[in-house]
Amino acid sequence: MFALGFLAVVAVGYLDYVTSWQCKFTVLYFIPLSLTWFIGKRRGLILAVLCGIAATSTELSWGMPYDHPLIPYWNASSRLLIFLIFTCLISKIKSQVTGLEMAVVARMNELVKEIDEKKLLKKEKSEIYCALHSTLDEMGEGFVSMDQQWRYTYVNPAAVKFIGKEADELLGQVCWELFPESSYGLAYQELHRSVRENCVVVFDNYIPAPLNRWYQNRCYPSPKGISVFFTDISERKFAEEKFRDLTDHLETVREQERLAISREIHDEFGQALIAFKLDLSWIEHKFLPVDFQLTGRLNAMRSTLDLLVTKAQNIASELRPPLLDNLGLAAAIDWQVREFKRRCGIECLLMLNDGIKVHDKEVGTTVMRILQEALTNIAKHAKAQSVVVSLCETAANDLILEIVDDGRGIEQDEIHSALAFGLMGMRERARHCHGVLTIRGARGKGTTVRLEIPRETAKEAH
Ligand SMILES: Nc1ncnc2c1ncn2[C@@H]1O[C@H](COP(=O)(O)OP(=O)(O)OP(=O)(O)O)[C@@H](O)[C@H]1O
Ligand SMILES: [Mg+2]
Repeated sequence: MFALGFLAVVAVGYLDYVTSWQCKFTVLYFIPLSLTWFIGKRRGLILAVLCGIAATSTELSWGMPYDHPLIPYWNASSRLLIFLIFTCLISKIKSQVTGLEMAVVARMNELVKEIDEKKLLKKEKSEIYCALHSTLDEMGEGFVSMDQQWRYTYVNPAAVKFIGKEADELLGQVCWELFPESSYGLAYQELHRSVRENCVVVFDNYIPAPLNRWYQNRCYPSPKGISVFFTDISERKFAEEKFRDLTDHLETVREQERLAISREIHDEFGQALIAFKLDLSWIEHKFLPVDFQLTGRLNAMRSTLDLLVTKAQNIASELRPPLLDNLGLAAAIDWQVREFKRRCGIECLLMLNDGIKVHDKEVGTTVMRILQEALTNIAKHAKAQSVVVSLCETAANDLILEIVDDGRGIEQDEIHSALAFGLMGMRERARHCHGVLTIRGARGKGTTVRLEIPRETAKEAH
């Protein structure tokens, strides 16, 4: 550039020389102009001023033939001003060009860096994907991922085994088109719910024969679709079913045994005690008054016998509420509530709907046992002042038992404790009759135990 500028100055100077004397000094101003680009603004300005002074002094010393003596000064200053402006402009353009160049270089560097980072990220991503896929492939659990259109995007070997189709047959296919029968089932509803509500959904699903297996499905939605893990929980489910059957059976046996023992105590033991008492009375009447000592003993024996009779009756009633079999559920509940008031001294209000008829003995027993356990818990733990027991039927004829106390209120961890065998027993009994038991507590305000038994079970006649 410098060489070019220099050559341009020489060329213009030469042209000036060969053409006219009038403007030859102008050439001097080209020097700062052409040099400003290279030597910077400040030095360019100094040079322009120096050149201006040099040109004007030369012009004056040569005595140019102007009409007016001020013309050389006017020429010099106007040229100087123009060249000063040009010098400033050139330096400004240069600084802008330099700034632009620097910005371009910085942006280039940034782009190079971004490209490098992206490359690295892509590499890392693909490494992570590889590791993830190999982990998923090794996993015993089934795993599938689907896109937003429910097309399979990944299926691990365990899932292939479970679904019974090769990965190639599944990938890219719409799940509900491949298995249209699933479109009406629980899986369809739960998977759609997971996507709709954007939440993790866990559900157990039974696949009927020929598979006859239970699976636990865990659905994780994402903006790209959904991923589902599924675990075979058939063994656990079958064991649970067996356990439930066993519990039901034990409950039935226990109830039958209670009934038998209650009858035994009432009929055999109670009758024997009454006979004993009659014999005692006979002896009293026959041989009295013979001996005061004997009379005293006989009186003591009679009181002990009365006590024994009452105890036997109580035990028999506890084992099997006497009114349940004879007068039905409502009478049995009434008796139970009165017993509770008498024994614990806690105010207990009973609200019974008229005309409740429960023909199923099992339902009657279940309601009674749950009521007994709930009242025992109130006496043991609630510190309640009063209790309200209500038994009613809803419009849909479902049977509802509610026991509400105003005690300290059961805590959440107590409700879900693994050691709350009493509460577990209540739930088991409710489930045995296809019912639902809910327990709610409000700290300092009391506890509510609610049992709902559906009509089909409650009205079912045996
Ligand atoms: N009405 C109630 N008010 C306050 N706490 C209660 C009430 N009913 C139950 N609980 C709490 O819940 C716990 C679990 O009750 P659950 O009937 O299972 O056991 P339990 O009565 O302690 O023992 P079990 O019934 O086996 O003799 C109780 O220990 C008690 O702390
Ligand atoms: Mg209890």
